[in-house]
Amino acid sequence: VKDYKVIIVHGGGSFGHYWSVKYDMHTKPLPYPSEGVSIVHESMIKLNHMVIEKFLSHELKPFSVPPSSYVFNNLPCKDRILDLVSMTRKNDLIPVTYGDVVHTSDGNFSILSGDTIMNLLSTHLKPRYSIFTTGVDGIYDKLDNGGNLIPNISVSGGGNVLSHQPAIDNERMPFDVTGGMKRKMEESLKIVKEGIPVYLVNGFHPERLLDILNNRDFVGTCMRMEQ
Ligand SMILES: Nc1ncnc2c1ncn2[C@@H]1O[C@H](COP(=O)(O)OP(=O)(O)OP(=O)(O)O)[C@@H](O)[C@H]1O
Ligand SMILES: [Mg+2]
Repeated sequence: VKDYKVIIVHGGGSFGHYWSVKYDMHTKPLPYPSEGVSIVHESMIKLNHMVIEKFLSHELKPFSVPPSSYVFNNLPCKDRILDLVSMTRKNDLIPVTYGDVVHTSDGNFSILSGDTIMNLLSTHLKPRYSIFTTGVDGIYDKLDNGGNLIPNISVSGGGNVLSHQPAIDNERMPFDVTGGMKRKMEESLKIVKEGIPVYLVNGFHPERLLDILNNRDFVGTCMRMEQ
């Protein structure tokens, strides 16, 4: 990580995600119960704090960035997003941002997921690549026993996912409140359409991130424009 400029985005997991389900809060801007708004927000600050402390304990230089600093009224603020890069230009700082509950307008709030933030940041900052890490090896054709990992997914100029081997069994693809892998694929597709390759890999195998950075064979899924 020390040799690269990176921005880290983390999701809610058993913190924000758990509470947003409990209080029935979604991406749609609504006057959600104040208690839910408070608790989801606090839980994400707590998780972010834990992530920041972990980075510090590895002698990295994290810099926590709340999404409310670059999203206003549910719209990304281009200048504030570009500022995330200029802020790290002459130092070793690593911006660490996260999915959260954000104020939209008039006391309405919405859930802004880490997956959507990946798209906002990628489309504005045009990084060399975007990497999603999850608890699974990548995108599978189906999740039952015997499902196979899809190593490459190419996207046509028109933005359609081209056929790939193995094909995805859509009917059996489950998804959760923040969309699970389905949401990640939708956001990935938008990033890929900007010409940025997207990798989906297992975060429990950090060496796979290095394989990607070093252009080696890796275990995971790569989505990119048709070559
Ligand atoms: N076709 C698929 N291929 C791979 N994983 C899939 C597929 N369909 C659904 N999933 C599920 O999507 C999950 C990844 O999305 P999920 O939203 O649970 O993780 P996350 O975004 O990393 O964490 P969180 O949302 O809790 O912050 C996988 O653990 C897997 O169970
Ligand atoms: Mg998720």
